[in-house]
Formats: sequence, structure tokens, C-alpha cells
Amino acid sequence: MTQKYIVHTYGCQMNDHDSEILAGMLQEMGYQPTDDEGQADIILLNTCCVRETAENKIWGKMGELTHIKSQNPAVILGICGCMAQQKEVAEKIRQKAPHMDLIFGTHNVHQLPELIERAREMDKTVMEVWETEGTVVENLPARRVDGVKALVTIMYGCNNYCTYCIVPYVRGRERSRQVKDIIQEIEGLVAEGYQEAMLLGQNVNSYGKDLEPKLDFADLLEEVDKIAGLNRIRFTTSHPRDFNDKLIDVIARSEKICDNIHLPVQAGSNRILKAMNRGYTKEYYLDLVDRIKKAIPHVALTTDLIVGFPGESEEDFLDTLDLVEKVQYSAAFTFVYNTRSGTPAAEMADQVPAEVKKERITRLIELQNFINLKKNQAEVGRVLEVLVEGSSKTNQDMLSGKDRANRTVVFPGSSEIKGKLVSVKIHTAKTWNLEGEMI
Ligand code: SAM
Ligand code: SF4
Ligand code: F3S
Repeated sequence: MTQKYIVHTYGCQMNDHDSEILAGMLQEMGYQPTDDEGQADIILLNTCCVRETAENKIWGKMGELTHIKSQNPAVILGICGCMAQQKEVAEKIRQKAPHMDLIFGTHNVHQLPELIERAREMDKTVMEVWETEGTVVENLPARRVDGVKALVTIMYGCNNYCTYCIVPYVRGRERSRQVKDIIQEIEGLVAEGYQEAMLLGQNVNSYGKDLEPKLDFADLLEEVDKIAGLNRIRFTTSHPRDFNDKLIDVIARSEKICDNIHLPVQAGSNRILKAMNRGYTKEYYLDLVDRIKKAIPHVALTTDLIVGFPGESEEDFLDTLDLVEKVQYSAAFTFVYNTRSGTPAAEMADQVPAEVKKERITRLIELQNFINLKKNQAEVGRVLEVLVEGSSKTNQDMLSGKDRANRTVVFPGSSEIKGKLVSVKIHTAKTWNLEGEMI
């Protein structure tokens, strides 16, 4: 009988793509996907540790899996990803969750087949967490589930060490993939019918710094832009510090690169930005936004914001509100600062009380929601190019897709046109999406 697998994914798009690779390797080993945990022969949790809430959810999931293990002792339970990459957490999992058969880190993904073999043979937990990254491993299979837009990792790791962030400790130093490998992968995806490539890295603007001969992200984008048959190029995440005029120019000139730039600012106060080690000021950021808006008139800027970083005063927070007001983001991901042990901010004095953080995030979300709706209302009457993703999650009779600015557009239609580019005239604006009719 065919062996079955499930991969549960937590965290960001980098993790989503790692899970596609885990699934690809499992399929090459002969496993087939299932949604039924009771039927699975292997269950992997690909984890995130960027905030405590993410980790708590995963501890809860591990607790639930004890039940599956007692019903089917032969099932292999594995945990990997960013949470498992932290040595002390991996050790805690081994002790507190002995039903987990396999623990491996972000640098050990390519070893999955041999790790499964070892887990099958051993009575005790197999643990493989390399402390440092190896070289980039190419040609791993990926099982992409989307079918319309493809995630393509262009670089791994992060060298920025923002003082609140755990990512550099669990993802290692920056390593760029070779241009030829990226191009080859995207050409293969286009041949499979993909319309859109999403280029991924924690800081895509650092792309190429470690390559010989040196080249940068703008150079890579120009190469990807030449791929025949590819209709849309997106990328995330951009660090404002490394966003230069050459890159703005390449985006402005390209017809394929979408008009959405995710440009996390994190905070609006210069004092807090410095304490966060972000490497720019509010004035620099606003000037960058101005240059982008001038060169790309229809640009939709999105961002990440943190409230309640240690030492953040009411005045600092007002600087964040002021910046949000000035930039007019089309969407923002807002987070309450969360202490991550091992990061410099965890040791900082003046941690902000929970109720103050809560009050600030409520005010920030209120402001951004107001801006969301206002910006969406400005789209009413316009005709937008939409890439159809499939049935709407909230209404199966409707289709849902993304316009070039990455806004969700909902409209009536049949799911046969999934994966097609269509024109939709917008008649209604909501806070989170646009509604219209195909023309
Ligand atoms: N590399 C990207 C960047 O520089 O913005 C994304 C990194 S992280 C995966 C996504 C977001 O999580 C960050 O932009 C930040 O807003 C948030 N984040 C990271 N660490 C956090 C922490 N300790 N508490 C709250 N939010 C955090
Ligand atoms: Fe974290 Fe900063 Fe790196 Fe983004 S750039 S992953 S926020 S350290
Ligand atoms: Fe989480 Fe790791 Fe991404 S910590 S946000 S899954 S890089």
C-alpha cells in the first residue's frame, strides 16, 4: 500500500517553499499526500519561531500528535524549520515531546530521506541540527500546490541582525543562488504553465553580494524579466536601506514586475529605528517612498510595523502613526513586539507593558484600516488586470484573484478560468478586497 504524508507549515513564504521541497522529496521517495492524520505514515511540522504565539501553537500541535502516535505507533512524527533550529528548543522537544521521532534544522532540509531512514531504524529520537549553514543545495524536487504563482527562493539567510529578530540566528548567513539556477528553475515553471514567479529572500536587495562576479538584485530582475511566457514577477522582502535608484528604474521600466513593493518600515521614530538596528531614518524612508511613487505612479506599498519595542514612548508611537499617514500604504502587517530570547532587544531596559502595546496596536490598525478602505475606494470604476487564483474562500460561487498591486479582487465567474489573466471592472470597495465584474 502507498505510504502517505502530511506537512503542516507555519510562518512565512520561505517556509511555505521549504515545505514544497519537503513534499517533493517525500513524493520522490514514493509517499503520497493525505489530509487525514489517522492515515499518514509521516507527519512533519515545518515551524516558525518569529513570535512566541507561533511557538505556542506548535507546542499545542505536538501535544495533539500524542493521540495519533498512540493510535498508530509506526507513524513517523517530525519537526523541522526555524523553531527546531534553536539548539535549546530542539533539546527541550526531545525531552518534553519524546513521541517526536525526528528533529531537524533549517540547514538539514536536504537530508530528509536519510533522516527518515534513520528514524525508522532507531528507537530514540533522531536529531540533526547543524549549527551553521552549508552551501546552497540545488536541484531538490519541489511539489508546488498553487499551480498559478510559484515561490522561488533566490537567497537564504539574513545578515541584518535587527535587534528584535530571531531570523538571522535560525536561517544563517546570506547565501545567494546563482542567476543561472534561478533562471533555469523559472523557465521550467513557465513550461509547466505558471504565470507568476514570487522571488523570495529575507532581504532580496542584498542578493548577489556573495557571488562572483558581483551582481545585484536589479541585475537579476532584468534577467528574470527576459523570460518568455512569464507574465508577472513579484518579490519579497525588500529592506529599505538597500533599495537604490537602479532597482526603482528596473521596476519602473518592466511590464512584468508588479506594482507592489513590500517595504517593511517597522517604526517611524528615529530613536526606535536606531535601537532596532534598521540602518535608516524616517526622513530617508519617506524620501525613498517619494522616489518610488514618482517613478512608479500606480505603486501599492505595503509594510510591516512593530509597536511596543523596548523604550517606545507615546511620542515615538505618534511618529509611527505620522509615517503611516504620510506613506498611505495599501496594506500593513502590524505586530506587537514580542521578546525573543537570544536577541539584543530581549535584554533592553524599558520593556513596554502589555496593555500599552495593546492600546497602541488597536490605534494603528484603526488608522491603517481607514487608509485601506480609502485607497480601495479610489479603485472603484477602474479596470484591473487580475490573475485568477480560483474560487473565493468566503463565497464558493465567486472567483478570487490578485491584481498587479496584489489586492484581492472578487468577481462572478467559473473556476475553469483559474490561472488566466482577466480584466475586471471594480464596482465595490471593502477594507480587505475589491469586488467587480469581468469585462
Ligand atoms: N526580512 C523581513 C524584513 O526585514 O522585514 C521580514 C522578517 S520577519 C519574517 C516578518 C516580520 O515579523 C518583520 O518584518 C517584523 O515586523 C516582524 N517581527 C520580527 N521579529 C519580531 C518580534 N520579535 N516581535 C514582533 N514582530 C516581529
Ligand atoms: Fe529579521 Fe531584520 Fe533580517 Fe528581516 S532584515 S529577517 S527583520 S533581521
Ligand atoms: Fe518564521 Fe522562520 Fe519565516 S522564524 S517568519 S518561518 S524565516
